[in-house]
Amino acid sequence: MAHQWQGVIREYIDRLPFAESDPIVTLGEGGTPLVHATALDARTGGEVYVKVEGMNPTGSFKDRGMTTAISHVLRSDAKIVACASTGNTSASAAAYAVAAGLKCAVILPAGKIAAGKLAQAIVHGANLVAVDGNFDDCLRIVRELTERFPVALVNSVNPYRLQGQKTAAFEVVDALGDAPDIHVLPVGNAGNISAYWMGYSEYAGHTTLASVDDSALHIEPVATKVPQMWGVQAWGAAPLVLGHPVEKPETVATAIRIGNPASWKYAEDARDQSHGWIDRVTDEQILEAQAILAAEVGVFIEPGSAASIAGLIKAAEEGKVPAGAKIVCTVTGNGLKDTATALAGRNLEINPIEPTLQATVEALAL
Ligand code: F0G
Repeated sequence: MAHQWQGVIREYIDRLPFAESDPIVTLGEGGTPLVHATALDARTGGEVYVKVEGMNPTGSFKDRGMTTAISHVLRSDAKIVACASTGNTSASAAAYAVAAGLKCAVILPAGKIAAGKLAQAIVHGANLVAVDGNFDDCLRIVRELTERFPVALVNSVNPYRLQGQKTAAFEVVDALGDAPDIHVLPVGNAGNISAYWMGYSEYAGHTTLASVDDSALHIEPVATKVPQMWGVQAWGAAPLVLGHPVEKPETVATAIRIGNPASWKYAEDARDQSHGWIDRVTDEQILEAQAILAAEVGVFIEPGSAASIAGLIKAAEEGKVPAGAKIVCTVTGNGLKDTATALAGRNLEINPIEPTLQATVEALAL
């Protein structure tokens, strides 16, 4: 019988801070496709795979960290969880809170959340607060809130989040047989790049700054190496590239519109320990990469996710991609979350025709 995927905690329980007897809240996250993107091979000279995280239950990679964070909350007395978000974390927190029987409060930058993500938080019954400020303001508020009230913080400053998110690196190694040469990721609050680096390192038998225990040292390594970590930020929201916080971050990729990432140190460590880099791409490059992945590979991703593809294409143009290198790009969220941005500037005037075959054939110019 085909293996029924159990969600990331049960699949990787020996590498996570959970025991079989612990309560587990799962929506079946993880086990996402690793798609060989031959169109990107041609464009970059590498062997390029995309890890399609938009296939998770709420349409983004956040579900990997939410199963661990929310399951951990069930071991405490908290009945309410809270997060700041650019959209995907709130969608995921709201859904997993429902599954856990908890209440969820989300603090969002007003007017800067893609419609699909906002819809998710609403239909899952989260308590929404819109702040006249950016994500960094929201995170500051939610940190203060959770310090003073019996509310559990489920942003990635909660170490259980990164624990769950590191499983994506395990899946990549399990699928490819070893670590790739290079792993490319969009970087916003910088949790995910830190989590992947932890996952790759632990699978190779080392711990990192973000590791919570030394269990990796006691388990037989699965990978013989670790990849270079390449991080990509949006041009107007690139604190890790500039080396200082950005007060007014701005980008069409609202998911990564962040000026002062919480996991700053972990991300720098991932970059430096892996001999990788963090660069930035323009909004135009992001939207072009989104269109390329949709039209040439068949995967529809949101703009924030397209930063990784744009960064890889830029690196190839600058001659930074070694010929034949095995490269994995994480595409973090589903394109359906933000159709308005994807359709901006496209011709949407499709005039209705007579309901006949002949009119259809003419319209198709066959
Ligand atoms: N891609 C997408 C689609 C995201 O939603 C995010 C972050 C990132 C990339 C960046 O990941 O923060 O770990 O560096 N979204 C957060 C949110 C901030 O609130 O949904 P990161």
